[in-house]
Amino acid sequence: MRLTPGPARDIDLDRIDLFDLDLYTSGDPHPIWDAMREKAPLHHQVLADGREFWSVTRYEDVCRVLGDHREFTSERGTVVTHLGVDDVAAGTLMTSTDPPRHTEVRRPLGTKLTARAVKSWEDKVRGTIVRFLEPALHGATFDLAERALLLPALVTGPLLGIPEKDWEELVQLTAMVTAPSDPHFTQGSEAATLAISHHELLAYVKEWVKTQRADEHQDDSLLHHLMSVRPGGAPLSDEEIALDGYSILLGANVTTPHTVSGTVQALIERPEQFEKAQADPSLIPNLVEEGLRWTSAACNFMRYSVDDVQIAGGTVPARGAVVAWIGSANRDEVQFPDPHRFDITRSGAKRQVAFGYGAHFCIGAPLARMTLRIFFEELTQRFGSVDLAGEPQHLRSYFIAGMTHLPIVAQKRRMP
Ligand code: HEM
Repeated sequence: MRLTPGPARDIDLDRIDLFDLDLYTSGDPHPIWDAMREKAPLHHQVLADGREFWSVTRYEDVCRVLGDHREFTSERGTVVTHLGVDDVAAGTLMTSTDPPRHTEVRRPLGTKLTARAVKSWEDKVRGTIVRFLEPALHGATFDLAERALLLPALVTGPLLGIPEKDWEELVQLTAMVTAPSDPHFTQGSEAATLAISHHELLAYVKEWVKTQRADEHQDDSLLHHLMSVRPGGAPLSDEEIALDGYSILLGANVTTPHTVSGTVQALIERPEQFEKAQADPSLIPNLVEEGLRWTSAACNFMRYSVDDVQIAGGTVPARGAVVAWIGSANRDEVQFPDPHRFDITRSGAKRQVAFGYGAHFCIGAPLARMTLRIFFEELTQRFGSVDLAGEPQHLRSYFIAGMTHLPIVAQKRRMP
């Protein structure tokens, strides 16, 4: 998705199509969201097949929809690619439950993913990132977006306890779930791609759980940990463990690579920001927050209204699908002055909601933040400059804002 908006233009909000995949591959969504925040903060769209949804685009409303499960439930599904189809894992999958069950499943898993817990991984993650960047140091063209798809696998693979030989296939399957229409990932139709990937991913995790149950030498991986979770006193079934493993795999694989590529692109377009970060490494944590805000890789999440609800000056009827546009909230001028300026010294960048808001706030945020911090520390210290070496290509998805190709050439940094 284009992250630096083009010139302002007239937008007819009655005619926009937020599900038009071309908008995200070759179009320019930000001016549309700007107009929606200003003139139609609650927007209603009916698709050609009769499915309908409401959109909120302002920061405050996005936080309310994502954060208030009494008004907006997660139990019928949260991903727009499944709009209108109730989630088969409703009430079971961590992402598709509301408190109190959600709290019970999430709490013990959360203890494994706190900032303090993931800190012990720092040296390993740094080693992985140094090896990942190494081929780009020799002056040849390096397709960062394509290669970055494997980065979460290299980082979280060992944490999840899934063997390295399986990662490439899992990366492909998770990409199919989130961008089923992208030519790199589609298999036949969008519906077929979704069905195949969902089935194969679940089958993979279920098989894995079965193998691990039979293994007496249980290790300390996250999926093992899930086996000992007892929400309400009873252990999770293998089916439930598989569904949570599925959420973690998806969450880890489909977001971090696009934050990496989109932030690097922003730095290539603004070399003075890259130089600032090189000169002062203490700016890197803020660069990461600004990169998360700027890229908003999870472009939206969905909820369903429980009853008729008043929001953003209008009414959503009971059981209506509400899409909370995170990509827009992160450019809301009320929260982020001059929001389309990428500025690694921006104060308040940490208010970004790229990880969501409320009970479902990304459980992997500490790990993602650490991975991104190390990535940009290493990039700015090892590379003197980074340039584009070809046209970036955007992911064909209205759910994940990302790139499939970002060819770059880099120069080694010369130390004085
Ligand atoms: C830059 C990287 C990432 C971004 C932008 C991101 C974004 C998000 C967002 C917006 C949500 C909220 C969903 C909702 O409200 O329904 C979420 C939830 C979640 N994320 Fe992430 N994520 C990232 C990295 C990760 C990583 C590395 C993992 C795994 C280790 C992960 C696992 C999850 C899981 C399991 C949930 C569901 C939490 C729940 O339902 O309580 N994510 N993520």
